[in-house]
Amino acid sequence: MARYESVLDWVGGTPLVRLTRAAEGLRPRVYVKPEWQNPGGSVKDRAALSMLRRAEADGSLRPGGTVVEVTSGNTGIGFALIAAHLGYRSVIFTSSMIAQEKRSQIAAYGTELRLVDTFVPKYHPDSLRSQAERFVTETPGAWLASQYDNPGNAEAHYTSTGPEIWQDTDGRVTHFVATVGTGGTISGAGRYLKEVSDGRVRVIGADPITSSYVGGDGSQKYIEGAGHFVHPEATVDEWPKALDLEVIDDYVAVDDQRAIDAVRRLARTDGILAGGSSGVAIVAALETATDLTEDDTVVVLLPDSGRTYLSTYFNDRWLVSTGFTGSATDFDAPTVGERAAAARLVERDEPLAAAVRRLAAEDVGDDVVVLVVHRREHRVLAPHPSDVVGWTTPARLRVAATVAGSVQPAGPRLGTGIGLADPAVTGWDPADGEVALVLDGGRVVATLTWAAVNLEPAAAGAAEVAR
Ligand SMILES: Cc1ncc(COP(=O)(O)O)c(C=O)c1O
Repeated sequence: MARYESVLDWVGGTPLVRLTRAAEGLRPRVYVKPEWQNPGGSVKDRAALSMLRRAEADGSLRPGGTVVEVTSGNTGIGFALIAAHLGYRSVIFTSSMIAQEKRSQIAAYGTELRLVDTFVPKYHPDSLRSQAERFVTETPGAWLASQYDNPGNAEAHYTSTGPEIWQDTDGRVTHFVATVGTGGTISGAGRYLKEVSDGRVRVIGADPITSSYVGGDGSQKYIEGAGHFVHPEATVDEWPKALDLEVIDDYVAVDDQRAIDAVRRLARTDGILAGGSSGVAIVAALETATDLTEDDTVVVLLPDSGRTYLSTYFNDRWLVSTGFTGSATDFDAPTVGERAAAARLVERDEPLAAAVRRLAAEDVGDDVVVLVVHRREHRVLAPHPSDVVGWTTPARLRVAATVAGSVQPAGPRLGTGIGLADPAVTGWDPADGEVALVLDGGRVVATLTWAAVNLEPAAAGAAEVAR
């Protein structure tokens, strides 16, 4: 075993672990690189340390200074522990949508957490990014790391992750699979592996299906860290400077359900408890491995552990409430689907007359619930709940000035598997709203009215939830 003289020396040097049962029947050797072996529990400790050391070297961070970052969690944890060790103040801007475990861990190191939940595009004055920038301007000695554009991010992986993989496979790695968030991991490690192998190593980007990196619509997904989200009101889809597109040979797009299935299975087949973005990478790696030979060696990087997601991907109640399958309680009891109606959509900024005409042409009755959603170019899946502005009806639309002007807020989100018989499970009180959003695989596929809940099943009919 290694001995470290400080927590900083513990960053990096993660092992490779061969997949046995999960890779059964596949010809190549498949190794995972569990990055939760880093002191903060994720791959981002490497990037945080590298960016901070660069800032110290170029004078943008000085003794007594404040480390500031905008993050979906893991980078914040990395900065929090390094700042604690080196005696810097640290302030992390993040959203309450990230796993509670990550927020609690950041706070445990004595870091100040600023939770910003305003759902606005990056350049809006209230966005996470704008608030962090304002804080830095107003705070003497503050340094904003900007992982998306900071060259120290990919450099961390060029100088550590890539060389470790090369060394630990004795130069036999042929395929490197990683998810793409900021792009730091895949760009740095991928470039190193390509250079050292004279271009032989193929680099595969694993990405959520909605991510704009793989041509998705940029809508939200349930997998934290991987992929690229585009705010519905953003005027440009800006990609990180940390992402080096030249390095990536192929992409594999993976939906949330498959990623969740993959990590749940991996825990049971190989005893490896990995996080959601690891699921995206595992699916891509196993799919890639199907076409390879005994001479190939696939290395797949697992960014963080499943311990951070025990209350979500590994939690039956969460799975049921978001309409994902895989829970032990997928049951035959009455489901919300029996009384729900397939979702009908209008876009918030759609011209009113066009929306009214379209609904009339589709023969949508006056009182039928119509969801008002943000516009998404080439929508690939049903809307994510964050894309739903509220609901309306054709009758309301006819007397409104705009589509947006007729919106009523929607009530709770119910997974398709929730038994209506148990109000303790649905938790739906009519005061929450007359209309609930019904989720299947985390996406809004149907609506349910409070009136329909109170109908006898026979009277409600058996409106099928669109799948
Ligand atoms: C859980 C998780 N997976 C994947 C990634 C993507 O890594 P990168 O930003 O290096 O592309 C991150 C980044 O924050 C992450 O936190």
